Amino acid sequence: MPVQISVPKEVTAGERRVALVPDVVKPLTKGGAQIRVEAGAGLPAGYPDDGFTAAGAILGSDRSELFGNTQIVLKIQPPSAEEIAAMKPGTVVVALVNASRNLDLVRRMRDAKLTVFALELLPRITRAQSMDVLSSQATVAGYRATLIGAELSPKFLPMLTTAAGTIRPAKVLVLGAGVAGLMAVATAKRLGALVEGYDVRRAAGEQVRSLGAKFLELQINAEAAGGYARELTDDEKKQEAAMVAKAVSEADIVITTAAVPGRRAPILVRDDMVSKMRPGSVIVDLAAETGGNCELTKPGETIVAHDVTIAGPLNLPSQLAFHASQMYAKNVQSFLTLLITKDGALVTDYSDEILAGSLLLTAGEVRHKPTADLLAGGK
Ligand code: NAI
Repeated sequence: MPVQISVPKEVTAGERRVALVPDVVKPLTKGGAQIRVEAGAGLPAGYPDDGFTAAGAILGSDRSELFGNTQIVLKIQPPSAEEIAAMKPGTVVVALVNASRNLDLVRRMRDAKLTVFALELLPRITRAQSMDVLSSQATVAGYRATLIGAELSPKFLPMLTTAAGTIRPAKVLVLGAGVAGLMAVATAKRLGALVEGYDVRRAAGEQVRSLGAKFLELQINAEAAGGYARELTDDEKKQEAAMVAKAVSEADIVITTAAVPGRRAPILVRDDMVSKMRPGSVIVDLAAETGGNCELTKPGETIVAHDVTIAGPLNLPSQLAFHASQMYAKNVQSFLTLLITKDGALVTDYSDEILAGSLLLTAGEVRHKPTADLLAGGK
């Protein structure tokens, strides 16, 4: 009996991505899996139905069949209450669950006795790199953030020497130089801006500089015994904050991406800092989804405050749905190699570090401690 996989159309408002694309369906069906794709599931991302059928998938439009008669459901967003109700106990769901923001759905999935792998919980170990959906989707978000900034800015990004005079390059400042931040830096560099990056992790400095941008750091020696970084003194922390505030006031576009896993995003750009920016400057706050790095950000909106445009876009990867889906699907394909044996059977032993780390629910039990604590606290 081949392993049965369903790929439904995403129903969350604004979600254009799809969990599998034809290029990934092909090797999976060749490997013996039976893949059912909901008719129209790939269309918003630019993948028509015939591409899926040519890759060996079966098209379906009966949602009760798609959810109720399968072993694995692959999704981007967590399943809706309706979708959960249509699934049999023991069905395996693989998706981005963001449990702390979707506790009601987590409760429903627990009560429905689904087995849920939350891809955002994947341990960030070398072996899991090919499955790392956070990195692939952050790459997309960082790229889009720079383009949004460029579009909202009344300025050119590159330096131009023209008959109508010389244009100075725009200054782009990227706060938080993780995966999204580095992609934002690289994209702004390609557009010709003068780019600066900043991160609390000193190690990010080397990566920022390798992209040809400047890394903001205090000229102090923060190395302690044994080569480890020592904690900055209060005075040094103040100097660092002043350095960031100055860079913000001089930037034409500020892109913020700072996040602390599992917590509200840190506030890096306060109201008074926005008020010191030049009129027409732009802030693109990639942390809007977790509260924002700018004090004035309104998640999901673009507002103007102190003559500065502040964008708080949500679900940026969905705006570049074709490649975001392609990368997500490749990550899922890699993850499935742990979940399906070479003979095509579904694995039931979840002791592998990657499976164990991403397992949110099984057999009516919450397996992720922080989520279990949140659920217990909410009752
Ligand atoms: P993230 O999305 O959780 O955070 C973004 C960035 O914000 C991080 O670089 C973080 O240091 C920074 N940040 C947090 N608080 C800040 C503050 N107050 N001011 C300035 N910056 C602040 O991080 P992301 O992009 O998911 O990755 C973080 C690190 O993990 C990177 O070094 C990345 O290379 C590494 N990583 C490792 C992987 C692996 O397989 N070993 C896979 C993916 C990422």
